[in-house]
Amino acid sequence: MQSKITKCVFPVAGLGTRFLPVTKELAKEMLPLVNRPIISYGVEEALASGCHEIIMITGRAKRSIENYFDRSFELEELLKSRGKTELYEMMLKISNMAEILFIRQREPLGLGHAVLCAEPVCGNDFFGVALPDDVFINEHDPVLAQLIKVHDKMGGSIIALEEIEPENVSRYGIVKSQFEIHDESFDSGIHKIIDMVEKPDLDNAPSNLAIMGRYILSPSIFPILREQQAGAGGEIQLTDAIKTLCAQEPVWGLVYKGRRFDCGTQKGWLAANVQLALEDPDLRDVILNIVK
Ligand code: UTP
Repeated sequence: MQSKITKCVFPVAGLGTRFLPVTKELAKEMLPLVNRPIISYGVEEALASGCHEIIMITGRAKRSIENYFDRSFELEELLKSRGKTELYEMMLKISNMAEILFIRQREPLGLGHAVLCAEPVCGNDFFGVALPDDVFINEHDPVLAQLIKVHDKMGGSIIALEEIEPENVSRYGIVKSQFEIHDESFDSGIHKIIDMVEKPDLDNAPSNLAIMGRYILSPSIFPILREQQAGAGGEIQLTDAIKTLCAQEPVWGLVYKGRRFDCGTQKGWLAANVQLALEDPDLRDVILNIVK
């Protein structure tokens, strides 16, 4: 069955302050994971999940993302004329990868506000949201596709969840689930979410299930976001809006299968690069020679 979910929104207008000074001029999403920018992992995951309409919510320091997915005739001609066919084809493949629509978020008013900027394109359709900082690796079953499968079965909005160690609950949004449904189509249970708390103390955490950067959202999120007051950090928070949505419509959570690299922090980004280099037969020895 072809899913009706064909749109995926990538909010990329954040300031990336955790990577300053490099993010003063360079988009955080363009930092490399070995030789590919972080953003390309998310876009490939969305395409592999059947979302061929990619919507990026960008800001003024993010032109490099647009350029990355665009044609570069000068470079292509140069590579072709020098007989670098493999590189030439790689460049063409990137620019032909997807139809991408760019919408500017004029002020970084928060993730919730960035998602609201996608309303003119998403209209009344359910849509995916991918936060590119969370890089998921699952070649056979992309994480966004796992969420779409739950949506196709259960309807409603879906959130990717991860079971985390108790000492980490204060770093994430944590969900409260009312019950868990076990269905043979899914390896893990599907949680009916009734509430969520942003970065709770361990004592106040309703579970150890943390919200990760992939969602399927109902268009009902838009009127909620329009009315939403600024929350933590003076920003319009997506979590606050989903919390309101839980009281109106079903919101389900799925503990995804796959590996995740948190590339939104310097430590996480560095760890991801080392791990991926270790898995690359051409680069593995570089790392091993340093640490021996
Ligand atoms: P984060 O707060 O994690 O990322 O936002 P950030 O703002 O880019 O980086 P730091 O925290 O300052 O280091 C989560 C996601 O929401 C997007 C970000 O680009 C990121 O993908 N975002 C955030 C927006 O698109 N607009 C905003 O106003 C805020």
